[in-house]
Amino acid sequence: MSRRTLAAVAATAALTISTGALAQEVKAGIILPFTGVGAELAQQMDRGMEQYLKLNADQVKPYKITLIKRDSKAPDGATAKIDTQELLTQDKVDVLGGYVYSPDAIASAPVVTAGKKLTVIMNAGTSFITNRSPYFVRTSFTLWHSSYALGVAAAKTLKAKTAVVAYSDYPPGKDSLDAFKKAFEDNGGKVVDAIPSGGPGQVPDFTPFFQRAKDQKPDVLFVFVPAGDHATAVVKTYAALGMKAAGIKLIGPGDIVQDIKLQGMGDAAVGLITMHHYNADLDNPANKKFVAAWKKDYGADSTPDFTSVGAYDGMAAIVHAIQATKGKMEGDAAVKSLLGWKFDSPQGPVMIDPETRDIVMNEYLSEVVKGSDGKLHEKNIGVDKAVKDQCKALAIGPCAPPK
Ligand code: PHB
Repeated sequence: MSRRTLAAVAATAALTISTGALAQEVKAGIILPFTGVGAELAQQMDRGMEQYLKLNADQVKPYKITLIKRDSKAPDGATAKIDTQELLTQDKVDVLGGYVYSPDAIASAPVVTAGKKLTVIMNAGTSFITNRSPYFVRTSFTLWHSSYALGVAAAKTLKAKTAVVAYSDYPPGKDSLDAFKKAFEDNGGKVVDAIPSGGPGQVPDFTPFFQRAKDQKPDVLFVFVPAGDHATAVVKTYAALGMKAAGIKLIGPGDIVQDIKLQGMGDAAVGLITMHHYNADLDNPANKKFVAAWKKDYGADSTPDFTSVGAYDGMAAIVHAIQATKGKMEGDAAVKSLLGWKFDSPQGPVMIDPETRDIVMNEYLSEVVKGSDGKLHEKNIGVDKAVKDQCKALAIGPCAPPK
């Protein structure tokens, strides 16, 4: 060894010893749409992660998690892919998390596979996403969880015979249509029309889509749109067209009654039926604690929602992997540590399916009601326990196991 090499080795050793405390740092790259149409969702999820880290500070010790946040901007995948690349190659993160919109996760999948780091999907809900990279683990949901369960409930519990489906025309919207239609028709119902209704990039005028639905006089109008301002516009248009008075029930996955949007929907939302894994009214100890801490930190009128809980659970998953790998976070070991992982979430008990790396969780059937406080609430009227993503369970199309 030359003298210069020896000196370099000594210098590196000295640095390692002097920065002993820093060796416990784990860098997490967080990709969320902090600006643009998804900005409110990004804030809800950022706060969800913050709450996990605050309420569970003891679980994190002796490690220090540094969050490096990047804006994925428009929901088209282009910026998220660049963010993913840069976080892996320049910031050299140990783990990735976030991804609100499906195109962001889909576009980033090859980069994630090449980078070989655990990547926790905390929102994006197209079923096949987890098949696109072995490093993806999902703590959020798929549209097949909610919309399949709702298809069964629409036929059996609501006793609907006919439905029109209106959906945002991109991958999770197509999933919601396929899932609802399969379950509803397998249980005796009939989807009489399916109406592509704009995309995630901007809130469309839903009037022509819903007028077409109204003209067909279905028992139920099933709608999927990404949460946020899209959901408010759905309920407003449903009210403006007098669809409730015409006897058409509005139903959908819980994306259309996101908790932060509920109070702004007005009385038109009363009676709306949804199926989802979370709402802020859920009555369990972990949720009571979560909601109380949230209101204390962000204001009495603020509320967590399903996007927050996906991020809260996602951070819990990251912390579990850090502990299991003793902070090393080698990608394969980090993913392996989460197979079969169980967690007592504010949404109820959750597990990561060891076969699919997707979440297994309860689905709650809820009705929007007006409470004695004059506010809108979600009244839980039924529960399906430990629900798996049905697209992968039934091995439909791109949801079949990757070869
Ligand atoms: C998605 O793009 O996968 C997505 C976004 C918002 C939602 C649901 C799914 O509410």
